[in-house]
Amino acid sequence: MSPEIYRFVDNSANFVYIYIGDSMELKEKILAILGESDEPVSGEALAEMNNVSRNAVWKAVNELRKDGFLIEAATNRGYVLARENKKLVGTQVSHFMKKCRNVAVFETLPSTNKTAKDFAEQGAEEGFIVVAESQTAGRGRLGRSFFSPTGGLYFSVILRPCFNAQVSILATVAAAVATARVLERHSRRTAEIKWVNDIYMANRKVCGILTEGSFNAETAKLDYAVLGIGINLFVPQEGFPQDIANIAGAVFSEKEVTSLKKAQIIAEITDEFFALYEDIENRSFLEEYRRRSWLQGKEVYYERNGTINYGTVVGIDDEARLLVMQNGIETAIGAGEVSVRSAGEKNEQ
Ligand code: BTN
Repeated sequence: MSPEIYRFVDNSANFVYIYIGDSMELKEKILAILGESDEPVSGEALAEMNNVSRNAVWKAVNELRKDGFLIEAATNRGYVLARENKKLVGTQVSHFMKKCRNVAVFETLPSTNKTAKDFAEQGAEEGFIVVAESQTAGRGRLGRSFFSPTGGLYFSVILRPCFNAQVSILATVAAAVATARVLERHSRRTAEIKWVNDIYMANRKVCGILTEGSFNAETAKLDYAVLGIGINLFVPQEGFPQDIANIAGAVFSEKEVTSLKKAQIIAEITDEFFALYEDIENRSFLEEYRRRSWLQGKEVYYERNGTINYGTVVGIDDEARLLVMQNGIETAIGAGEVSVRSAGEKNEQ
């Protein structure tokens, strides 16, 4: 089935809104081959590998170009996916998604969570994704800001949960598991989760997750929620600001990051997340969340009601609360009430 594409351009922000149908198989295969090869691949070889005519290859390459992939044709040598293929567009994201979802890509936004909320207020459906390549007012947990320069990937997914608002913390937990899996797969580095919403690699925070909801007091449910994920793909040229320099890290080196990778990461995290979210009340992902817990066994201090408390992390319960042991007494800490730091950490991103 050929994709249906709608585009709208918003004067304020380079806005592209896309609906795309089933992805085309030949396009997928050609993209995968070109993505793997640093050398040009001839039209003839692509045709042979896929058992199609050279004309079919030529058409598929042109469709990929329309999807926003920069594919160069080297004279007499074939096609090559350009290295400078950095700019992300929505069709690239849709291209990799198992289920079709609307994707809005912006070069820059104040906050993708804020824009996703605006879309949700206007009735955008569950699964709508807002992406930005940088943010000027990225939001973090507990009213903090989130440093969001070019070099990161920032996106928010609209949710329309039908479960009780108390369960919504599990959406953040499911998202952390989905994100850890995908980042680990692409980087081949171990991804741990710092309760409740941070992904760590080699003891550095590489990703933060913030779920914000609009609570409906009458139904005691959320009208909608936005799940915001911010990933430090590579270290910005000027480095991280001093206040987070001892905590923040990045998943990749700059040369490893292409628009292809960005699109794959957004699509795969969204697909993995929705697979877990469909069955959220079963908490199937909690075991993996516990296994990936960066804080397990660590000495932590946390602030509650204005008092600083110390203890050792002994686990995470079924409501995703952190269990801390202090003088033989176990305390369960909820995500909304406190900020937890390991004894070695001074600041938080
Ligand atoms: C945290 O570490 O405290 C959570 C950070 C969440 C950042 C993401 S980036 C995409 C989305 N838009 C925002 O403004 N915040 C979230």
